[in-house]
Order: sequence, then structure tokens, then C-alpha cells
Amino acid sequence: MELHIYPDAQTACEAAATLLAAQLIARGDSVLGLATGSTQEPVYAALVRMYRAGLLDFSRARTFNLDEYIGIAEDSPLSYHAYMREHLFSKVNVRMENTCLPDGANDGGVAYDEAIRAAGGIDVQLLGIGRNGHIGFNEPADAFTCGTHAVTLAEDTVAANARFFARIEDVPRRAISMGIGSIMAARRVVLVATGENKAQALLGAVRGPVTPCLPASVLQLHPDCVILADREAAKLLV
Ligand code: GLP
Repeated sequence: MELHIYPDAQTACEAAATLLAAQLIARGDSVLGLATGSTQEPVYAALVRMYRAGLLDFSRARTFNLDEYIGIAEDSPLSYHAYMREHLFSKVNVRMENTCLPDGANDGGVAYDEAIRAAGGIDVQLLGIGRNGHIGFNEPADAFTCGTHAVTLAEDTVAANARFFARIEDVPRRAISMGIGSIMAARRVVLVATGENKAQALLGAVRGPVTPCLPASVLQLHPDCVILADREAAKLLV
């Protein structure tokens, strides 16, 4: 694990965007693993700026997202499909047919992992981290998950996601997520953690025992994992 600590969230996110951009510049037909969440918004904004400056070409890139809610239509503004369209896909020259998110209407987990393999595997997987240490929607559990699968969200995740929904009853309780095995198969993993509310989870992920009780800790076993954190998220690590 390689840990880089930046003075603020903006700088940490720009560093993440730079790593993705470097991959795309080195190989235009790269396969990018993408993530959603508030943390990633400045990452995508930085990629869009680089694209508009003429530095990036997404026309041959393929993308696979980590997860999607079950029970939220793809065209709902609350879906992760909509998030990706808003923050990245509509603003760069990626071909929509080369973008892929798990299908919240169908439990097509096996087909999703097969599509990733058929594309040659993920070159760089972008990740955030949940307050409880989840990655994608792999919640704390008794065992690590393997492939893409349907999950029941932890209470803490439902509470964290409530900010996007009008009423707590509207917050989805289920999602489809790439599994820990799907994430670990990426050739490189870039995890971005910003803000004080991620400090405990990041401490566990980097220094704690490798345990499915804190799913991000499995990244200690990944051969090429870069963690980009701001000072607040890293405050228990320094
Ligand atoms: C959701 C997503 C995760 C993301 C996490 C953190 O649960 N499924 O992929 O890492 O939220 O989100 P945020 O960046 O908004 O804190």
C-alpha cells in the first residue's frame, strides 16, 4: 500500500484524477473502474478540466462502475447512472456504449464480472471508502465477497445516503456491487479518502488487521494500491 497525504481534499482528488489521466494517456483503450460518492465529484471535475484542455481522449476508453442501487430506475436523478452522466459521461467524449454500470433491475452479477474479464480486466479501479470501511457496497461481514452480487446496505450506509433523499423511507436498502474479488482483480487500485468522518475507517484499512469486518483492509493484500487522503482523513495515521 502506498499512502499519500495531501493538505486538502481538492489536492487529493486532483492527484487521483492525475493517476487516471496518466493511465488513459499511456493507453487510450484503458479499462477504468469508476466510483460514485461525494468524494469523487472533484476527481471527475478535474478529469473534465483536463479533457477540455485537450489533454485527454476518452473515445477508446471503457468504464465499469462499482455499484448501483436496486429499486432506483436508471433514469432517476438519484441513480448512480445519473451521477455518472452528470459528473463525467456527458462532459467528455466517452462512448456511452463503452460505459457499464451494474444493472439495479437485474441481479446480473455473473454477467457483469464476465463483461469486465472480456474487456481485458480493469486497469485502474477508483474507490472511495464508507464510514464503516465499505468499498463499493461491500459492507462489513463475516467473509469477503467474491464477484458482483446483490447486497443489503448497512444501517450506517443507509443513514449516510439519506442526505440525497427526501425521506428516510426512500433511501434504498439494497444495491448491486462489484465484490471484493472483482475489486482485487483490478491491476491497480486508487482509493480516495477525504474528510474527518473517514479517519477511523482509513486507520482500520491501512493499519488494522485484514478482516471482512472492515472490507477496505483487504487492500493491504493488493499488489498495487495507492491511497490518496487529505489531512483530515489521515489524521489518525500520522
Ligand atoms: C457509497 C458508494 C461507495 C462510496 C461511499 C462513500 O456507499 N457506494 O462506493 O465510496 O458511498 O461515499 P462518499 O464519497 O459520498 O462519502
